[in-house]
Amino acid sequence: MDRPEDVKKQPRPSPGIYCFMDVVAREAEEYAKNHTSPMSELLEEIERFSLTSTAYPSMLTGRVEGRFLYFIVELLGARRIVDIGTFTGYSALAMAEASGADAQVVTIEKNPRFAQIARDFFDRSPVGAKITIRNGEALEILASLPEGETDLVFIDGDKREYGAYYRQAMRILRTGGLVIADNVLWYGKIFHPEDDDSRAVAAFNEVVNRDPGAERLFLSLRDGIYLIRKKAV
Ligand SMILES: C[S@@+](CC[C@H](N)C(=O)[O-])C[C@H]1O[C@@H](n2cnc3c(N)ncnc32)[C@H](O)[C@@H]1O
Repeated sequence: MDRPEDVKKQPRPSPGIYCFMDVVAREAEEYAKNHTSPMSELLEEIERFSLTSTAYPSMLTGRVEGRFLYFIVELLGARRIVDIGTFTGYSALAMAEASGADAQVVTIEKNPRFAQIARDFFDRSPVGAKITIRNGEALEILASLPEGETDLVFIDGDKREYGAYYRQAMRILRTGGLVIADNVLWYGKIFHPEDDDSRAVAAFNEVVNRDPGAERLFLSLRDGIYLIRKKAV
């Protein structure tokens, strides 16, 4: 039996998230994927490529979140979309496929190698012409976008910049527009943040939660998704 001093030495599980993430989540994740409509052939190919041929498979959005983005874009009728963090192009292409013929998706990526991989995939898509890849620092590119004209911003870049992305996102969004921020549970590390990324995501969540200009829904889907609507103030 553990003595109290041994118990104290054990790593502290993040309260609440422990059962969900460690016991249920892996199986639930697979189950959710198998009960979600497959994406297009090309998106399924991007998923396979990202999982097998890149060093960062966990960065991929994937089918469940991809279908979530697809539904939101379709239901919102989003036409001006900004995607922060392209990687291999999955979220940008999912949103482009869901949007109307006159829609535009700007996707931002600082790594030229990822930007090229995504470009090669977009070139093979019938909706690829809707997507513009902006290769560079997300904050610089966001600062160059006009105020109040964007319908949807998907935040999935550098976790330490989430707060700054949010300020820019709220500036460029029209009233009623949406921010969707990925990884807001950050593997449960937000409950006891011990590194810069975790502290930044936890701080971002608090900023959003206190923002009087934001109507918000925190979803514990996958690694956490914050759905935020810009209110009229
Ligand atoms: C989690 S991945 C994005 C996944 C992608 N949304 C998808 O659907 O698979 C994050 C991406 O953001 C890029 N990134 C990180 N910091 C950035 C920055 N400061 N400016 C632009 N891109 C950045 C990374 O190179 C990486 O490709």
